Amino acid sequence: MYRLGVAVFFATTAFAQVPGPLTPEVHPPVTSYKCTTAGGCKPVSSSVVLDANYRWLHNVDGYTNCVTTGFNEEFCPDIETCAKTCSLEGVDYASYGIRTDGDSLTLNIYKTDPATNVTTLSSPRVYLLADDETYDHFKLLNQEFSFDVDVSKVPCGINGALYFSEMNDKGDKNELNTAGAKYGTGYCDAQCPTQNFIKGEANLNGTYGACCNEMDIWEANRAATAYTPHPCNANQVFACQGTECGGGDARYEGVCDKDGCDINPYRIGNKGYYGVGANFTVDTSRKFTVVTQFYTDDDTSEGTLTEIRRLYVQDGKVVQNAKVKVAGMDDYDSITDEFCASEKEVMGGTNHFAQLGGLKQMGEAIGRGMVLAMSIWDDAGSYMGWLDQDPFPADADPSAPGVGRGPCPTTGGRPAELIKNHPDSRVIFSNIRSGDIGSTYSNATVVPRWARRS
Ligand SMILES: *[C@@H]1O[C@H](CO)[C@@H](O)[C@H](O)[C@H]1NC(C)=O
Ligand SMILES: *[C@@H]1O[C@H](CO)[C@@H](O)[C@H](O)[C@H]1NC(C)=O
Ligand SMILES: *[C@@H]1O[C@H](CO)[C@@H](O)[C@H](O)[C@H]1NC(C)=O
Ligand SMILES: *[C@@H]1O[C@H](CO)[C@@H](O)[C@H](O)[C@H]1NC(C)=O
Repeated sequence: MYRLGVAVFFATTAFAQVPGPLTPEVHPPVTSYKCTTAGGCKPVSSSVVLDANYRWLHNVDGYTNCVTTGFNEEFCPDIETCAKTCSLEGVDYASYGIRTDGDSLTLNIYKTDPATNVTTLSSPRVYLLADDETYDHFKLLNQEFSFDVDVSKVPCGINGALYFSEMNDKGDKNELNTAGAKYGTGYCDAQCPTQNFIKGEANLNGTYGACCNEMDIWEANRAATAYTPHPCNANQVFACQGTECGGGDARYEGVCDKDGCDINPYRIGNKGYYGVGANFTVDTSRKFTVVTQFYTDDDTSEGTLTEIRRLYVQDGKVVQNAKVKVAGMDDYDSITDEFCASEKEVMGGTNHFAQLGGLKQMGEAIGRGMVLAMSIWDDAGSYMGWLDQDPFPADADPSAPGVGRGPCPTTGGRPAELIKNHPDSRVIFSNIRSGDIGSTYSNATVVPRWARRS
């Protein structure tokens, strides 16, 4: 929700254009599954690729960084020269805290240098590849998406995230960017982060942000969770400038809905629904399955998105989503335009979601197809308070509806304390499945239309 552009933290390595000559890029394999009602789930050989921002970007004939505090003026006097001169290296995935095994992916937020035993922030972000050069392209209208997650080692203040961005499936590979998806290029999201390259063009004066539709399936730790559509007035990546980027006071004038419309069980009045221990409805001390369903108005993949439903499965038991228990709101249990309008009205905030076209707009991106991103990060800007603290902001009236986001203390989430106290923090995503509604999990029941909201 308040995610900062990762480029802010990794400005010294940044991304580029020509594949580098030094380290071969070998993608860790991970099995995913495509499912149909008739045929069940079939394994697919996929792999993951680390985002380009994390890679060493250097002059192709030497060892000098192309970007430090800004672009190197010798290598990057203009867009074309920069693209030809700067090369993007392959990476050693283990050294970034990224491991795969069968159908599971482990992301550690911190990495320890074996030579010195010094632990530093790694905060990896990876994308799912269908083949070595192409991101998997998920088209989820009238479909569902499921995965298993272990958040038992994701404490307050850290976010193990799984979400879709409407990136180009070749990573905007072109004459300027010959590296492409193989090197994790082409990132964009609804926060319009500043990127060093957009569609292969060096962002030489940092003027541009990379905006695109974003569907947050999972932003969570062991104490709190949210799922949040963020529509944008954009088709794939849009290079925003100025007000369009929605920075500062222009938050509600930008092309993307930065706030989104979220369902967080704690925030909607269910403090005992999600947390560590067998007394919570979903026990985050153990693995569970997360199912997200994208229903359309005519139950076809050509229809208009009208509802995003959530289920959990734990110990073979299907757990329905928490229902809203907030004075002044109906007992919604899914994301619909009506729920979003009611949530904004009661909890406050501009309904930028509706202004940008709401679920219909989000659904158009989901229909065109989106790229799966998985990451783990901390939040130096707002300490993840928007996800897990009560109240948020810390000086808000605690009795006001919606200000409680999770049980975490408002003094927590400080990156320096997290790295010291929780150096082994990691999230495990596994068993990634997509397909017909009801086809991706056991004991599935399809909710009939009469029982749904629209
Ligand atoms: C790093 O830690 C390991 C395990 O504690 C230890 O065996 C090793 O000697 C340490 N290495 C350095 C360089 O301190
Ligand atoms: C920033 O750089 C672009 C080229 O990359 C140029 O078109 C634009 O005018 C520059 N803007 C400013 C404010 O310098
Ligand atoms: C569950 O138990 C834990 C630990 O005893 C406690 O902190 C938490 O508040 C309890 N949650 C509920 C919903 O009762
Ligand atoms: C279906 O649900 C029942 C009751 O909750 C459970 O005992 C059974 O193991 C489940 N079946 C599967 C295949 O998960």
